[in-house]
Amino acid sequence: MCGIVGYIGRGNAKEVILQGLEKLEYRGYDSAGIAIIDDNEIKVEKKQGKLENLKNHLENMNFDSHIGIGHTRWATHGEPSDVNSHPHFSNDLSIALVHNGIIENYSILKEKLKNSGYIFNSETDTEVIVHLIHSNYKGNLLEAVKTSLKELRGTYALGIIHKDYPNEIICTRKESPLVLGIGQGENFIASDVPALLKYTKEVKFLKDKDIAILKEDSIVIFDENDNLVDRDINTIQWTYEQSTKNGYPHFMLKEIFEQPQSIKETINRRVNNNIIDFSDVLSDDEIKEIDMIHLVACGTAYHAGLQGQYALRDIAKTNSFVEIASEYRYMNPFVNNRTLAIFISQSGETLDTLAALREAKSKGAKTLAITNVVGSTISREADSTIYTMAGPEIAVASTKAYTTQVIMLQLLSIFIGKKKGVVSNNKEQEYLSSLYSISDKIKFTLENTDIFPEMADHLKDKVNGFYIGRGLDYAIAMEGSLKMKEISYIHTEAFPAGELKHGSIALIEKGTPVVVIGLQSNLLEKTISNIKELKARGAYILSVGRESSTELREVSDNFIPVKDIDNIFSGVLSVIPLQLLAYYTSLAKNIDVDKPRNLAKSVTVE
Ligand code: F6R
Repeated sequence: MCGIVGYIGRGNAKEVILQGLEKLEYRGYDSAGIAIIDDNEIKVEKKQGKLENLKNHLENMNFDSHIGIGHTRWATHGEPSDVNSHPHFSNDLSIALVHNGIIENYSILKEKLKNSGYIFNSETDTEVIVHLIHSNYKGNLLEAVKTSLKELRGTYALGIIHKDYPNEIICTRKESPLVLGIGQGENFIASDVPALLKYTKEVKFLKDKDIAILKEDSIVIFDENDNLVDRDINTIQWTYEQSTKNGYPHFMLKEIFEQPQSIKETINRRVNNNIIDFSDVLSDDEIKEIDMIHLVACGTAYHAGLQGQYALRDIAKTNSFVEIASEYRYMNPFVNNRTLAIFISQSGETLDTLAALREAKSKGAKTLAITNVVGSTISREADSTIYTMAGPEIAVASTKAYTTQVIMLQLLSIFIGKKKGVVSNNKEQEYLSSLYSISDKIKFTLENTDIFPEMADHLKDKVNGFYIGRGLDYAIAMEGSLKMKEISYIHTEAFPAGELKHGSIALIEKGTPVVVIGLQSNLLEKTISNIKELKARGAYILSVGRESSTELREVSDNFIPVKDIDNIFSGVLSVIPLQLLAYYTSLAKNIDVDKPRNLAKSVTVE
């Protein structure tokens, strides 16, 4: 949700910033902009639309600049337009800044600043910050920033430059992410690590309300009480290549194909000598204390939580309950010190999930994060963190992060089940061998993608569709439907297979597509009866089932086979064809698969 980048060093600021923005474009692509200091003047260039527009605009502009800031926007206050794009700058062009977050008291500040003579060019909340800093500037930029921050209510990550300080960038954060990259004779700021990987793997994560001053050869940090502090240097394990398309036409397709590997790495991360181990995040005593597990997340991560709920109940025989993060606080959840609350988030920055975490923590729960991003806010605020081994996920639609979250939850369920005495050593080995078989079984689907373009062609002009399944298959239907909606813009809804007939079946007419997930072998007969009810009303049935499911194949207009596996682990197999179906439908509709409209990958507003 907006990406910011800053550079100071001996390199070409424009090139470094554009390269960084390219890696952050998943955070928003309503507009992009850049501000640099060239010849003691601030120059600002910004363009509505994708980064490509800014790049084209800048193509023949050569700046002799070694300091600058850049931004890629997901619009909140003010429509996408050149003028609402960041960087925003003071009326005399002495100060420019980029912002990720929302300033809640911006209208009061705007009124005050207008009364003092400041002219506002944009409709954004951000513009108040730059005028505020300007109004507080009495010859010392750092002091002006510190004074101004005290007046702001809301969330922010900020990169600030001043024409009279051509050798420094000031940055700060509150609840929005910001990473400092440490180079040799150069330093960087960025909303997320992929923007830095080309230049450095050494980073520092700022704490809330830290203020940092970056020069070519130094980084100085003050905490919120104005103490000079140091923050640990972390070495990032991701490689630059992982953040490129590596020959694939889209990040999403690359990430779908990376799943066999990321799943294997996720299992290996938690298995030592064939024993699953989470003792670093959950002690035996803590497990004994747990009488309820809450799983809390948004969107696709919530769907991973749904699969986790099945695994915790089925494998660990543990009371568990999954909730959408943005609703968690408003439903008076029963939370006490015997609650384990698990927060699932690829980015580790989703504000709804973070707010739910804070709520659970304040009520005494033990909090555990499952995230993909080292140093992310959720990972730092939770009592303990489990990292998925998905590597950077760049496509807006989540694929490999989801399947690795599910695998982590399944491993965790086996671990808790063993500690509770409901999973024997032998059963653990059986479960592990099933989990290890998943990667090869996924490859079977990935080696047979030629069936998808024809199905996508059939779906591409449909306006509505349904996804149905029973039991765990229903959780997969929800994820399949979300993928289709977000990247193909076809309105689909997921239903428990038995539920359609209670009302929504009225929407079925000749040719209405219904995607059926039929992996739960004990429920298949009932699901097949539901298919027959739908076919009798003209539905077009596209189903995902086991290779061996002859009956399901026969009642379907199109059938996508997946390999056999235990019911409880089948979700990670059956979701792969649904990811591919959404991908090929998006392609058939000529949609920008990696950057579907209106979305941003990391949602840092409530
Ligand atoms: C959909 C998708 C979103 C995210 C959701 C939570 O493909 O990616 O639904 O799953 O916004 O994001 P994280 O996992 O970063 O908290």
